[in-house]
Amino acid sequence: MASAAQSPIYRATTTAPVNIAVIKYWGKRDTTLNLPTNSSLSVTLSQKSLRTLTTASASADYPAEDTLTLNGKPQDIQSSKRTLACLSSLRSLRQALEDADASLPKLSTFPLRIVSENNFPTAAGLASSAAGFAALVRAVANLYQLPQSPQELSRIARQGSGSACRSLMGGYVAWRTGEQVDGSDSLAEEVAPASHWPEMRALVLVVSAEKKDVPSTEGMQTTVATSDLFATRAQTVVPERMDAIEAAIRDRDFPKFAEITMRDSNTFHATCLDSWPPIFYMNDVSRAAVRLVHDINRAVGRTVAAYTFDAGPNAVIYYEEKDSELVAGTVKAILGSSASGWEGPFYEPLAQLNTPGVA
Ligand code: ADP
Ligand code: DP6
Ligand code: CO
Repeated sequence: MASAAQSPIYRATTTAPVNIAVIKYWGKRDTTLNLPTNSSLSVTLSQKSLRTLTTASASADYPAEDTLTLNGKPQDIQSSKRTLACLSSLRSLRQALEDADASLPKLSTFPLRIVSENNFPTAAGLASSAAGFAALVRAVANLYQLPQSPQELSRIARQGSGSACRSLMGGYVAWRTGEQVDGSDSLAEEVAPASHWPEMRALVLVVSAEKKDVPSTEGMQTTVATSDLFATRAQTVVPERMDAIEAAIRDRDFPKFAEITMRDSNTFHATCLDSWPPIFYMNDVSRAAVRLVHDINRAVGRTVAAYTFDAGPNAVIYYEEKDSELVAGTVKAILGSSASGWEGPFYEPLAQLNTPGVA
């Protein structure tokens, strides 16, 4: 007996890079739309080292519900409002294409199967939610053959995880708070391409690959609700720093870029400590890295290195290629031994333009 004809499987695979903020996003003014209380600015790292690889497929034959598998484990996306928001925005855009062209397969009506893998620690303060949601949005957008620009897709990725909007672009990327209540102007914008400052390097030091105790979403909500320092940082400190760091990037002024980066990491972690109950993302090993960077800068007599820490103990150190030996060499020599507490591995990604992954 002939078996029933199988429906085709439509598929798209993509990669997305991590971005590490130098002016940190921390605080939401709207938790449903993921609208931030302050603008932020990041550097997109090379996908050669840290990346998310995501495949999205759709078929009329798939079981009714959309599914997401992350690092081999099925995720409960039906209870993840943010993932559902991304998928529903992408489906509406596909639906509009199908309404305009009846010859297109009705992918918007098919269940989605999404499979994703991070090649670096997940939920450990190395921006997995940024690379993860950027890859998810781009993979489905590619599958649906959507014509939207990276900036338009950044508005959708923002709903998955705020920091994800900045991973759809390369180089130096700002995420502007925007003013609209519907979030339509809260999106990412490339401030400068990576080629503008080709000497920039980032060293990623993995102190712990463990999942953090306080996820970013929860941590920033506690800070907004309880920290006295928070409002000053969001309203006064960050706007000034955004202007100053954009000027430093424009002028390729590393000492200025570095000082603002380190100060903003410190201010962000100060608001975490000022939350109630206090939140500790950095640990003793993180603090040893802070001291070492200040020691190196003092010993050299100019600012050659800048640390920054996201919501986790792991350090990212920015420096220029000409100071590679001085910075990466010294950091590895001093912190690289197992006795220091670093787990490694060390990644040395160039900050480079994000090239779209395997389409
Ligand atoms: P991080 O510091 O790694 O960004 P967060 O607490 O912000 O940590 O977010 C971690 C969460 O992001 C994970 O628990 C998971 O829900 C989501 N996430 C991480 N990677 C992916 C991915 N590749 N695809 C979809 N979601 C992801
Ligand atoms: C410290 O983007 O992970 O890394 O929007 O709730 O998913 P959600 O939070 P997320 O927060 C990132 C915080 C940060 C700073 C930054 O990347 O700007
Ligand atoms: Co995150």
